[in-house]
Amino acid sequence: MLRIENLHVDYDRIPALRGISMDVRAGEIVALIGANGAGKSTTLKAISGLIKPAAGKIEFNDQPTAGFAPEQLVELGIIHVPEGRRIFPRLTVEENLKVGAYAARARIGEKATIDRVYELFPRLAERRKQAGASLSGGEQQMLAFGRAMMAKPVLLLLDEPSLGLAPILVEEVASAIDRFHDGGVTVLLVEQNAELALSLATRGFVIETGRIVLTDTGPNLLNNPKVWTSYLGQEDWEVTTGGEHRAPAASN
Ligand SMILES: Nc1ncnc2c1ncn2[C@@H]1O[C@H](COP(=O)(O)OP(=O)(O)OP(=O)(O)O)[C@@H](O)[C@H]1O
Ligand SMILES: [Mg+2]
Repeated sequence: MLRIENLHVDYDRIPALRGISMDVRAGEIVALIGANGAGKSTTLKAISGLIKPAAGKIEFNDQPTAGFAPEQLVELGIIHVPEGRRIFPRLTVEENLKVGAYAARARIGEKATIDRVYELFPRLAERRKQAGASLSGGEQQMLAFGRAMMAKPVLLLLDEPSLGLAPILVEEVASAIDRFHDGGVTVLLVEQNAELALSLATRGFVIETGRIVLTDTGPNLLNNPKVWTSYLGQEDWEVTTGGEHRAPAASN
């Protein structure tokens, strides 16, 4: 569905992505993990057209899309939920949801989609007339998800959806991602919480200073101590992953 080849992105000529290649197949949840500043958000921004690549290829369903405007990519079904949620604080919950359906393809059946969002997130239904700003952090994340759902995503790009949420809400985020996926949406998930991302993902890519350094299945990456110690800078893999429910680290 998505193919990226040798993608370079610079900020003021300082390289952020140094030739990354990766792919996402239809129906997958793919995790992109890496330390702070590795280039995760930059990758998503390049895919959704928020920044222009310096070089390289991006193809969505075999169509080259590098350099497309964000609105064009939204019409193709590429929906980006950026870091930090970015809901409209003065609009009500319902108005925020309707903003999500601005693409022509999303306006078809808007009413049915909004009903589905309320069914999935009953808390949003209860608060439909409340201002976005009055929601808790977790509720705002649900609203950001609901708004993305309104856009009828084909490929959903999620940037740190669990950031700053209490553990119980992280569970809710995980189940919301599962529900998107069950509904036929392909997901590219960026997370600092690598354990969460890899436990949901079919496959994962590890990015380090603008380069993909490792790719494998989600479970294999989850059980690879090198991911935690070398690439994510954690001192102790067992502490990081909670240890007990995982296979022991390979010794060498
Ligand atoms: N608008 C910008 N202007 C200049 N440099 C930027 C800009 N945005 C990001 N960078 C730089 O590009 C590199 C990659 O940043 P990016 O935001 O993609 O990292 P990230 O992996 O998402 O990190 P984090 O986990 O902290 O969100 C970093 O070195 C960052 O400082
Ligand atoms: Mg980021």
